[in-house]
Amino acid sequence: MLFGALAISGVTLGTRYNSAIESAHDSVVAIKADSIFSLVRDFHYFGSGLILVLGVINVTLLLWRGRFSRDDRWLWWGAVGTVSLGLFFQMTGNLLPMSQHDARTAFAEAGIGAQAPLIGSAIRDLALGGDSVNQATLDRWYFAHRIVGPILLLLIAFPCIRALHKELTARGWLYAAVPIVGAMVLAFMFDGPLGVSAQESDLSTGATRPMWYVLPMHAMLSYFSGLNPSLGWIGSMLIPKLALLGLLSLPIILKKSPSYAWLGRVMVFIGFTLLTLSIVGHGDKVQPPLAAEPSFETPLTTTESTAEEVDGNLAAAGRKLFEQNQCLSCHAVGNEAGGTAGPNLEGVGNRRPEAGWFIRLLRDPESLGISTMPSYSKLTESELRALAEYLRSLR
Ligand code: HEC
Repeated sequence: MLFGALAISGVTLGTRYNSAIESAHDSVVAIKADSIFSLVRDFHYFGSGLILVLGVINVTLLLWRGRFSRDDRWLWWGAVGTVSLGLFFQMTGNLLPMSQHDARTAFAEAGIGAQAPLIGSAIRDLALGGDSVNQATLDRWYFAHRIVGPILLLLIAFPCIRALHKELTARGWLYAAVPIVGAMVLAFMFDGPLGVSAQESDLSTGATRPMWYVLPMHAMLSYFSGLNPSLGWIGSMLIPKLALLGLLSLPIILKKSPSYAWLGRVMVFIGFTLLTLSIVGHGDKVQPPLAAEPSFETPLTTTESTAEEVDGNLAAAGRKLFEQNQCLSCHAVGNEAGGTAGPNLEGVGNRRPEAGWFIRLLRDPESLGISTMPSYSKLTESELRALAEYLRSLR
């Protein structure tokens, strides 16, 4: 029912939203300036967050009660589908207002997709439709948000409503409307954040805080890229996809329904542990739903003349480290082959002439807002210096 209400508020917002990249932000500013439309927007914003939170609680309860075998298939698929679709709508809808944070988040997500072996570049191309966030990106995400998502939603909605209908009394249906009221209360109480409009420089960087709802994926990305810089995709993509497939196939595997509650409880325990670990390890690094969006200054451009002389020997040693540490799995340099998850590093020495900046990036990319590049804090001080010198030499 909350999904239905979100669809209605979404269609309403669509009448005022302008998806031309240079007008998108202004159109959302205008929506926020109108007292009625601003409430509709806040409802849409907080309701979509609520659907994720309640959806996870719903899945947890079904697991706890062992209700995921064949007999309960529609109930179960509906519950898992709600969370996955909720996430899909969150991620695609996040770009639409085109604030700095939104554009950077989309760029970072495409970069994370690019880390997948074999299909990485294709994922990035599909998501961005170019090398940076551009009109094609916004068109595609808006299309996914208002066409693809709703079709998937309709596909699961009808069988689920039928399954629920057998189970719910009239009063049960009344309770099902409570989350709508909850989202309305949130919309009245809080103001959905909107950051400043994206500038040219925000369209080709992913340096920002990841959104709160990707926290578990973000934590696993950090964990796996900490094991090996080229393995991040296992945590951010492979495991979540396998987990989703596993959950969806439970009713197919478990045909007859004796009590599977024990299995469900084991899964609840595993999920709870993973969530706790992500919150403890990375909770402070994500963007919470109520906080104002971060804003970013336009980066300073430096001219070559201010840069210091490069030490050739040190840079050569840095080049070796560059190859040994799999930098090329994410970065190309000029025409040299390399991955596409990170930017091409040609000319990076002009953009960032200071060794200190590179060392800070390599040691603690998150301190610069970059969560899509692994930390190289394991390297020694002299190795970091050499790498920085090599990067400085790329002019
Ligand atoms: C898992 C992928 C990945 C690996 C491995 C990786 N990087 Fe990155 N790197 C990124 C991403 C993504 C960014 C872009 C951050 C952003 O969105 O602005 C980046 C940014 C950078 C930048 C800043 C570029 C600029 O124009 O501001 C430098 C320099 C850099 N990386 C160097 C390295 C070096 C050196 C290594 C190896 C020691 C390395 N990277 C390994 C993904 C990676």
